[in-house]
Amino acid sequence: MHILTVVGARPQFIKAGPLSKKLGESETLVHTGQHYDQNMSDVFFEELKIPPPKHHLGIGGGLHGEQTGRMLGELERVMLEEKPDWVLVYGDTNSTLAGALAASKLHIPVAHVEAGLRSFDRRMPEEVNRIVADHLSEILFAPTAAAVENLHREGFDEEAIHCVGDVMYDAALYYAETAIRESQILEKNALRPQEFILCTVHRAENTDSAESLTVIFQSLDILGRTQEIVIPLHPRTRNALVRISLLEKLTHLKIVPPVGYLDMIQLEQNAKLVITDSGGVQKEAFFFKVPCVTLRETTEWIELLEGGWNRLAPPHSTAGILQSVESALTGELSPIGFPFGDGNACQRIADILLN
Ligand code: UD1
Ligand code: UDP
Repeated sequence: MHILTVVGARPQFIKAGPLSKKLGESETLVHTGQHYDQNMSDVFFEELKIPPPKHHLGIGGGLHGEQTGRMLGELERVMLEEKPDWVLVYGDTNSTLAGALAASKLHIPVAHVEAGLRSFDRRMPEEVNRIVADHLSEILFAPTAAAVENLHREGFDEEAIHCVGDVMYDAALYYAETAIRESQILEKNALRPQEFILCTVHRAENTDSAESLTVIFQSLDILGRTQEIVIPLHPRTRNALVRISLLEKLTHLKIVPPVGYLDMIQLEQNAKLVITDSGGVQKEAFFFKVPCVTLRETTEWIELLEGGWNRLAPPHSTAGILQSVESALTGELSPIGFPFGDGNACQRIADILLN
């Protein structure tokens, strides 16, 4: 069995980490190059001990059409050369879309990890990418029952859907202890457990709108007067803050470069609150029993809106965001079910693909 796996963006390296170990020699990795800084890419290959990709396409930056188009051409070339039995794609980025589309044009069956998620907001590039990737796939590895329901609603063949659990939960379980042992991120930034808020912001809808970005960072800077806030800043967001001359005005925030995975989960498991617009970080907050405020209109992880674990705070006004943060900091958390499986998602996926 020969599986060609296409990755390109930070969350995909983290998802591929534990699954690559199960696929072993059967897998050939292609890195599209969508993320290319050392702290957005190489650090994850090193920490998660992912074998170096056999093919690195070096395609990062640019507008969506151009980026995806260049990936399509290069991936077609690699797929013709490698002749895989399956192409494996993760999540909802432009690398996912290009991998699924290039394979399907060559009649190579596609398997999609993290299938069935929906925000029901087609203005998000991720929503378009994941819908297309699902519809091009022959095997749909859904992380949760809610994802399976979405696929049922769209009429997918029952045989194609496998509810395996969430590979990010496998990764978090596997690396949480290592992070406690090895990460120095708290000491380096003088952060005390349970006394700081962890924040990440990178979504296109938040960074591409000067209004939304301003509301978000003004809210955070106000909050920073009374709370310690650490923000590993995505390069997209840094560029956007520089563009609107806001970065240098943020004097109450601890802004640091993007961190590696071990540092990130160490921050998550010690934070008193997470504020984010990331898909993965919303889930990880819950894995570590930390409440979360999500700076978006919608979320794909609707299960976490129960019990006070996650609340949506769209960037409409500073008052609205600060109110949500206050509720999250003072509100009670009630127990809810755990929708993300048992930490064996990767084994299930490997068993299905290899057999
Ligand atoms: C992409 C995904 C998004 C995912 C995110 C994870 C798409 C459409 N979006 O968004 O779903 O949540 O990755 O982080 O695929 N940049 C750098 N260095 C890097 C990477 C990016 O400087 O290593 C800057 C470049 O200016 C680049 C911009 O960030 O143009 C945006 O990068 P891109 O990969 O296009 O989108 P993300 O916002 O990272
Ligand atoms: N992450 C990381 N370092 C950071 C920020 C995030 O290792 O500085 C990890 C995070 O723990 C999660 C994943 O990156 O596993 C989420 O990726 P991101 O937020 O970039 O994308 P999304 O999940 O929104 O697609």
